[in-house]
Amino acid sequence: MTLQMKRIVKSFHENKVLKEVDFTVQKGEIHALLGVNGAGKSTLVKILSGQLQSDSGEIKIGERLVSLSSPHQAIDAGIGIVVQEVDTALFPELTVAENVSIHELVQGPAFFSRRERKKRAKEWLERVGLNISMDRLVSECRLSEKQQIVIAQALARNVQFLILDEPTAPLSEVETKALFQLMIRLKDSGVGIVFISHRLPEIRAICDRVTVLREGRTVLQSEVSELTDDQIVEAMLGKQLLAIQEKSPRQSTTPLLEVQQFYVPKLDKSVTFTLHEGEVLGIAGLVGSGKTEIARALAGQDKSSSLVTIRAKHWKIKHPRKAIEAGICLIPEERRKEGVLVDFPVDQNISLPHLDKITQAGWLDRRKERQLAEKVIEQLSIRTSSSKQSVGLLSGGNQQKVSIGRWLDTDASIYLFDEPTKGIDIGAKVDVFSIISKLAEEKKGILYFTSELNELLTIADRILVLYDGRFIAEKRTNETTLEELMTLATGGNPDGTEHRGSECP
Ligand SMILES: Nc1ncnc2c1ncn2[C@@H]1O[C@H](COP(=O)(O)OP(=O)(O)OP(=O)(O)O)[C@@H](O)[C@H]1O
Ligand SMILES: [Mg+2]
Repeated sequence: MTLQMKRIVKSFHENKVLKEVDFTVQKGEIHALLGVNGAGKSTLVKILSGQLQSDSGEIKIGERLVSLSSPHQAIDAGIGIVVQEVDTALFPELTVAENVSIHELVQGPAFFSRRERKKRAKEWLERVGLNISMDRLVSECRLSEKQQIVIAQALARNVQFLILDEPTAPLSEVETKALFQLMIRLKDSGVGIVFISHRLPEIRAICDRVTVLREGRTVLQSEVSELTDDQIVEAMLGKQLLAIQEKSPRQSTTPLLEVQQFYVPKLDKSVTFTLHEGEVLGIAGLVGSGKTEIARALAGQDKSSSLVTIRAKHWKIKHPRKAIEAGICLIPEERRKEGVLVDFPVDQNISLPHLDKITQAGWLDRRKERQLAEKVIEQLSIRTSSSKQSVGLLSGGNQQKVSIGRWLDTDASIYLFDEPTKGIDIGAKVDVFSIISKLAEEKKGILYFTSELNELLTIADRILVLYDGRFIAEKRTNETTLEELMTLATGGNPDGTEHRGSECP
């Protein structure tokens, strides 16, 4: 059976986001939905799951026309979704069991057995491979667990089609593998799956067919096996991807930031390293290895009382303001929570770190603010209807670009990028890399924290491998491989033995 969307049109005010999009997914297949940030992927699947209404077009299941004017109706028609911001789909103050069977709580019979419900919830969660206490509050669950709960919720309602909107962006390797196994089990049991991701290897690993959206139109539909990566990327961008300039590793010996036994409160451990002028130092670590904790502490967010040395001057960075004064800026990982103010327009989000520059005699120069924003919008190709658009209304990837963009023109000398490419498309990734290279040319120092180890081979000069809150290896980029980094970052030893977790010098 086929789920078919035909000539779907959707505008937000004057912004026509979907222009006659066609999309089909069959039962028993995994179908990739691709496109750059802002192409309309989330909008399309929100229409499919009854969260948004299209302006025109039709949706059919088999030969039957269906109306999906609410999430309820979509579920009744057999369509479930795991949204991009999975947090928003759950009740954090209810238990795991209550969330799984929320539909019964809301609509079910007035009388029910709590024990019975818990038992059923447990069965559904076991089907998705989650084994946790049914009484735990959802607010205490990890992101991957929340995803599994939402999937269980959908399965408990017997959905035939399941949409996953960028589910792997926040997951670790192991969690991603587990999710893929679950997707394949569901596919084999006849469920049709729509899968959104910016990572081509993931598409190759599990998808049967692919549809590419560009500027609100369907530009490609095909079997994955019939396409090369270049063809897919070209369909997404509408042009060939400019190759990232091969660089010779930068050689710098002037210390910029010296960190000696620096205490990281949230890890209860100390770290030691040196960052040089004009150097991109990669910090390779999987989800949970301690990257964010180190970045936050260095940016004054967790009140470490250790000293750091910047150009031979000592600093105690106990407050974010102190970090900015010392020339350190952090581009944080969690865009919605800390990266941007979602209720404020793009220009005000971007101007925040620059208020001194654009204020005169206490008056904020709105024209300068707009110019600054427009420059960043152009530099990172941020898709927004204007610089006055509220950031909360941008697509997920474009929100991430705003959170990066606001820091580009500051006087900072040390940049901490925490997983900057999470959720941004392949074209924007190239933009971010070229911006980082430019910062390095200007003799700034960059710490690049990531679990996307392959990115480090492109952008970093030197790499420190972080495992369980400790640096356990140091490599020059041109002297290591992806396999070696992966082995080290997962706690193994490239020569086959397990390392002892000893700290590198
Ligand atoms: N509620 C809304 N109001 C106004 N504009 C919106 C709204 N939701 C989405 N848009 C706009 O629609 C366009 C498409 O957004 P959408 O979220 O569908 O993109 P996407 O393909 O999912 O991108 P990403 O890869 O970044 O998640 C964007 O330009 C976005 O700003
Ligand atoms: Mg999206």
